[in-house]
Amino acid sequence: MSAITATGLKKTYQSGDEQVEAVRGVDIEVDRGEVFGFLGPNGAGKSTTVRMLTTLMTLSGGSATVGGVDVTADPYGARRKIGVALQEAGLDVRQTGREILTLQARLFGMTASEAADRAQELLELVDLLDAGDRRVKGYSGGMKRRLDLASALVHRPEVLFLDEPTTGLDPASRLTVWDEVKRINALGTTVFLTTQYLEEADQLCNRLAFIDDGLIIREGTPASLKQELRERRNMTTEPTLDDVFLDATGRTRERVAGEVKEV
Ligand SMILES: Nc1ncnc2c1ncn2[C@@H]1O[C@H](COP(=O)(O)OP(=O)(O)OP(=O)(O)O)[C@@H](O)[C@H]1O
Ligand SMILES: [Mg+2]
Repeated sequence: MSAITATGLKKTYQSGDEQVEAVRGVDIEVDRGEVFGFLGPNGAGKSTTVRMLTTLMTLSGGSATVGGVDVTADPYGARRKIGVALQEAGLDVRQTGREILTLQARLFGMTASEAADRAQELLELVDLLDAGDRRVKGYSGGMKRRLDLASALVHRPEVLFLDEPTTGLDPASRLTVWDEVKRINALGTTVFLTTQYLEEADQLCNRLAFIDDGLIIREGTPASLKQELRERRNMTTEPTLDDVFLDATGRTRERVAGEVKEV
């Protein structure tokens, strides 16, 4: 069974008198155990798609399932299958990492002793044992991201959604998050990840899709996407996913440079 399916997924926002068609008919199929990358320029519709798939937002059209549960027909059932770390993390900075995880576990119905064990296990998983009893206020950006990751895992979700988990992190912290994602996936969790970093997608994802202006414009494995471009363009060196992205979105390096200048 698929971990995630979406068919004809649509979202139209009403913004004053204007309608914004953020997602315009997206089909997605992610198998259990995969790390699936969802890439695209700013405003492409990535976060909107994540919000719909995680029941945080209603669908304007189409349908979706997570862990086999229809997100519209049974949002509460779907939520039990879902862990999510959003683009903007919402952590109470006055609490310690351990307190946040323990509280989450209690909210999911664990006993005090189960919750304490789960918090300990998760602090270990994301390398925060040493900082676990410090207030989150004193955490670095990378540590907050990792705690957010841990709190999305408290109820052992089948599918973990990560919206730009490494944006704004320094290279070392980014690598740490990559390791956590690999470790979580190795334990059997399916991962749906949005990112702006194509190298990250190349490293982590079994498969990926590019979205632009609300529509999926290309998808495949990192290797197949690069291979296709290489053959079509008769390239003599191996293209990067950046090259695939620029080709898919019709942006050239020159035009991107030009657009930057105009701003
Ligand atoms: N609440 C909202 N009301 C109106 N328009 C919105 C709202 N949220 C997003 N949009 C618009 O929908 C489109 C898609 O936004 P979305 O946040 O899904 O993009 P994104 O791919 O996640 O971008 P980014 O890379 O910047 O995070 C954009 O045009 C955005 O301006
Ligand atoms: Mg976004």
